Amino acid sequence: MVKRAVRSERCKNCNFCISSVCPSPEECIGCNACYIACPNEAVELIDIEINDYITIYVNGEKFQVPNKITVKKALEMLGYKFTKFPEKNKIFAPCEVGGCWSCALEIDGELKPTCVTPVRSGMRIETEIKQTPKRLVHGFSGHTVGGVGTPWWLKGFIYIEAACFACGCNFRCPQCQNWTTTYCGKDIPLTPLKAAEIMTKLRKSIGVDRMAISGGECTLNREWLVEYISELKRRNPDKEARFHVDTNASILTKDYIDELVRVGMTDIGIDVKGIELETFKIITGLDDDDIAELHLKAEWNALEYVVNNYSDVFVGVGIPYNKEFMSLNEIRKIGEKICGINDEIQVCVLDYRGEFRSRIERPSYDEMFKVWKVLKEVGLKTVICQTRYGYISPSGKFNF
Ligand code: FES
Repeated sequence: MVKRAVRSERCKNCNFCISSVCPSPEECIGCNACYIACPNEAVELIDIEINDYITIYVNGEKFQVPNKITVKKALEMLGYKFTKFPEKNKIFAPCEVGGCWSCALEIDGELKPTCVTPVRSGMRIETEIKQTPKRLVHGFSGHTVGGVGTPWWLKGFIYIEAACFACGCNFRCPQCQNWTTTYCGKDIPLTPLKAAEIMTKLRKSIGVDRMAISGGECTLNREWLVEYISELKRRNPDKEARFHVDTNASILTKDYIDELVRVGMTDIGIDVKGIELETFKIITGLDDDDIAELHLKAEWNALEYVVNNYSDVFVGVGIPYNKEFMSLNEIRKIGEKICGINDEIQVCVLDYRGEFRSRIERPSYDEMFKVWKVLKEVGLKTVICQTRYGYISPSGKFNF
């Protein structure tokens, strides 16, 4: 039995699934990418029986698998294990829309994401990868505001940062603020070298020192990110260059953080999406308790580890706020926990609005000011709150 996607009457013909997601518009291969990515939740999955079998080769061994399914599905049928949280001897497949390429293997001699690549008769798959990693990356451009890991006092100049956005995410946030990149699986993949080359040119052309990568979730494809930062540093050896990683930190382990710092990361923005498991699940759209708990713990552990071990790395924390999914009491608890790590950490509260699948209303200025006051009361020294009109600075001043 395999899944096939069908459009329901909720379809608004926005065409996002065809233009940016579906790897096989002529014939569904059951990858479910459109089901994950449709902003209108207009895709339904139905079970179908397949009686048409083809031959594929995995590491030189011959197997029969159903036709018109993904390589990932075929490998699962053959006993290969895929995982949502990085684990030894399992293939990490966190986004499942073809964006992160963490699940990529060598398919007919080329690196391709298994989650959205259809099997074909005679296909040869190698599970040992010898090729340079790739992934989809969007939106290389100059930014005037920066991200969570950008020092707040830099905001307000023309360009303060050159940024790019990695496609694919392990979260399914209903209010995702960057969903056309997060769920994009159709674009030309970039090697770390190519991405570093584009970023270096951009830095020169707009005259900034800061280079940021955000997403989607940029940490998903570890090999790619480590090579990218390393190559970026090689091309930008001057003391002024800053390398900023904006992340949900949900898969950052101590050794991953050590590796990023070793290759050049100088600034990190970590989003904490709650302190209570239930809030975290609502914000991230994750419904599996065990996976959600692993991610939630990893986020907080990563924050504590980087602050306690790397005083040279600038750390900013982002908190998405909307009264629909977080109480002021939880904001207080988050503030206390951050204070317990270090009361000087920069905390930026983001006023989340309805995007992607969510229709929540953007918080009012007064609501954000209350959040600011709660975080100041618990003792945090550097609190910035984004509002619909501008931001509230650590001194309580309003800035456009
Ligand atoms: S899991 Fe396949 S591309 Fe991200």
